[in-house]
This record gives sequence, C-alpha cells and structure tokens, in this order.
Amino acid sequence: MRVGVPKEIKAQEYRVGLTPGAVREYVAAGHKVTVETNAGAGINADDAAYQKAGAVIGKDAAEIFATSEMIVKVKEPQSQEWKLLSEGQILFTYLHLAPDPRQAKGLMESGCTAVAYETVTDARGGLPLLAPMSEVAGRLAIEAAGMSLKAFNGGRGLLIGGVPGVQPARVVVLGGGVVGTHAARMAVGLGAEVSVLDKSLPRLRELDELFQGRVRTRFSALDTIEEEVFAADVVIGAVLVPGASAPKLVKREMLKHMKRGAVVVDVAIDQGGCFETSHATTHADPVYAVDGVIHYCVANMPGSVPLTSSHALNNATLPFGLALAGKGVRAILDDVHLRDGLNVHRGRITHPGVAKSLGLPLKDAAEAVQEELRQHSPRLAG
Ligand SMILES: NC(=O)c1ccc[n+]([C@@H]2O[C@H](COP(=O)([O-])OP(=O)(O)OC[C@H]3O[C@@H](n4cnc5c(N)ncnc54)[C@H](O)[C@@H]3O)[C@@H](O)[C@H]2O)c1
Repeated sequence: MRVGVPKEIKAQEYRVGLTPGAVREYVAAGHKVTVETNAGAGINADDAAYQKAGAVIGKDAAEIFATSEMIVKVKEPQSQEWKLLSEGQILFTYLHLAPDPRQAKGLMESGCTAVAYETVTDARGGLPLLAPMSEVAGRLAIEAAGMSLKAFNGGRGLLIGGVPGVQPARVVVLGGGVVGTHAARMAVGLGAEVSVLDKSLPRLRELDELFQGRVRTRFSALDTIEEEVFAADVVIGAVLVPGASAPKLVKREMLKHMKRGAVVVDVAIDQGGCFETSHATTHADPVYAVDGVIHYCVANMPGSVPLTSSHALNNATLPFGLALAGKGVRAILDDVHLRDGLNVHRGRITHPGVAKSLGLPLKDAAEAVQEELRQHSPRLAG
C-alpha cells in the first residue's frame, strides 16, 4: 500500500505519525512510504534518516495526500487537511470527534475511512493507543509539579523528595488509572509521600500490590478527598469516567483550605478537569493561580516531549497500522478492536459514542466495510 506521513500542522505539535524505525517496518512489509519533508524535525529525525529507513520524501502535504492510499498522523486533521482527503482513503490518527462537529462534517464530506487511535480497544477493555500518552502525561505531571513548586514560580518552595532530615512533599493523586499510576511511580521514585485515591476497589488492590506499601491507597469519597487535598503540597488530577466529562472532585470553596503555594496538575483537563477552578492552558503559558493555589492544566502534555511520545505512540500503533496497510479495510472486518476504532466511513459515522454525541445517525461499522468490499473488491468481501 502507498502510505503517506504529512508534517503535523496543529499549533505546538512536534510529534510525527511514523518514526524512521516504524517506516522501516512498513517498508520491510512491502509498503511504499512517503514522508513530507521536515515531518520529523520535532523528533530530530531529518529527511536523510527517513530516506535511510526506506521512505521517499514528499515536498508538501498536497503531494502526500494526493499520492497515498493511507495517511498516518498524530493529531486530528485541521480544516485545510479535510479538503486534501479523498474518497476511500484511510486516515489513521487521533480524532476526538465527539465534541467536534465541524471536523466530523469535514471528514464525512471527504468520503475517507477514518480510524481514530483513541477508540481502538484491546481484549481487556482498555484503550491501547491512548495508554502510551497517559503514561507520558502521568510521568510528566510530577516534573510539572516540581517546577511549579519552586518559589520563583509562586510555589511553596519545596523540593518534592526533601533531603535527609527535612520532610518531602505530600503528593495526592486523584484517580489511580494509567496517568495516576505513572504519576505515583515518579513521585515515589523522587521520595515523596504519596496517596492515591480511586473509586475502584479492585484498582486500589492492584496499586497496593504494585507499590508494596510505598503508596497510601484510599477509597475516593467526599471525606477522604477533603482530608488528602487539604494536606497536600501537590494534587494530580487523573480521573476518567469513560465517555463523560471529568467529575469535579475539588470544588472552588475547597481551595481556601489548601496550602498556599500548593500545586494542582489537572491532567484530566482534556475531559474538563477534576478541579472546578481548572481551565485549559498551553505550554507557552502553562500555569495560573487561584486563591494562592498554582494550577497547571496543559491539555496536550505529551506534545512537550515529542521524541519520547512519538516513539511510545508508534510502538502502540504499529501493529494496527501494518494490518491496515497489509489488508486495507478488510483489516477492520477481521479485528474487532480495530473496528472499534472506525469512526467515519465514506460519509457515515460508524462509532456509537461519536454518533450519540454529535446527534448523527449511526452506521454499523462491520456492515459499512462489508458493503464497500462487495462494491469495490468482491473477492475480499468474504
Ligand atoms: N492533559 C494531557 O495531556 C493528557 C494526556 C493523557 C491523558 N489525559 C487524560 O487523563 C485522564 C486520565 O486518563 P487515564 O488514561 O489515566 O484513565 P484511566 O481510565 O486509566 O484511569 C482513570 C481512573 O479514574 C478513576 N476514577 C473514576 N472516577 C473517580 C472518582 N470519582 N474518584 C477517584 N477516581 C476515579 C477510575 O477508577 C480509573 O482508575 C483522562 O481524562 C485522559 O484523557 C490527559
């Protein structure tokens, strides 16, 4: 298959859809990969590195989109890219369509087959293409907290791990899923005193096993949240209720009981945040204070470490991308987890959650692909 990798054009996005290592895998599997010139600049991979991996370098996005049967990206296509997509072309990237009716319309009008990283599933009910970015964000959250705790940034002037004879920071993690676990791991590694709160008892048991007593696990309830948050130097917001906005676990009036210069890193900000006082910020201007509490609420934290993030993302997307490149849309029929990723197919919405959020009719994903195969490649329809 002819696979194309355009340069990301969303503001402050430095990741790339395929690393040179991933390109090599596609080429070894017999595919032709065209990469837009400078697409890998954000991860220090120049055109020569891509050529060495077997890619052809394309001069601009128009060329990549016009000559490829499948486009592999990171962020959702921007409005100028919708027009470059074509009927039957496969798009494999993050989409986050539920709150984005304009993009949904753009993709539907293009006639493309759009598979969204964030809705591909695994056998354990997880989201394997979202997890690597949660791992990155969780680990970054403690770095961000450490920076914000510094006195010249308005923080308490506290070193997370303390030193012998001086107490470390109290780090409280709300939500012990992927983000929360990786944040807790970093905080423990630095020597902080760490509590993790979660609503799920099985999850708290797993964390208890994992951390072997180095982390205090607590059931998330009004009392425990207040007790922990009021005593905290750092609070990491890491809750997720799938398909819903993050619950506001920390109300505005609670802030006045928190320590002055304490730091909130609300990683869950992409789902609205779990502090009532959170609003999304950018890497250019990441923090603000409310009642003396420093808020860090960057919505695309992994974008700040594109080298780590691109490799982590490629490790997870590679098997699915190779399946799509190898079998075309037939791969979507053959793998129920990839099928969960199908959001838009030739003008119709094929993901129940996206259809519901956008108030648009739903087309069954398997049926949609079967119809396409019957029409265009009857041999593969099965
Ligand atoms: N800002 C960023 O750059 C960035 C990057 C990656 C992920 N995220 C976001 O971080 C959030 C967490 O992602 P994740 O992958 O860790 O999700 P996850 O599903 O792995 O974990 C979420 C956890 O929250 C728990 N939870 C739900 N309701 C709770 C409550 N009331 N109190 C305590 N715990 C509760 C769940 O039981 C679960 O263990 C998501 O909103 C995700 O989109 C943001």
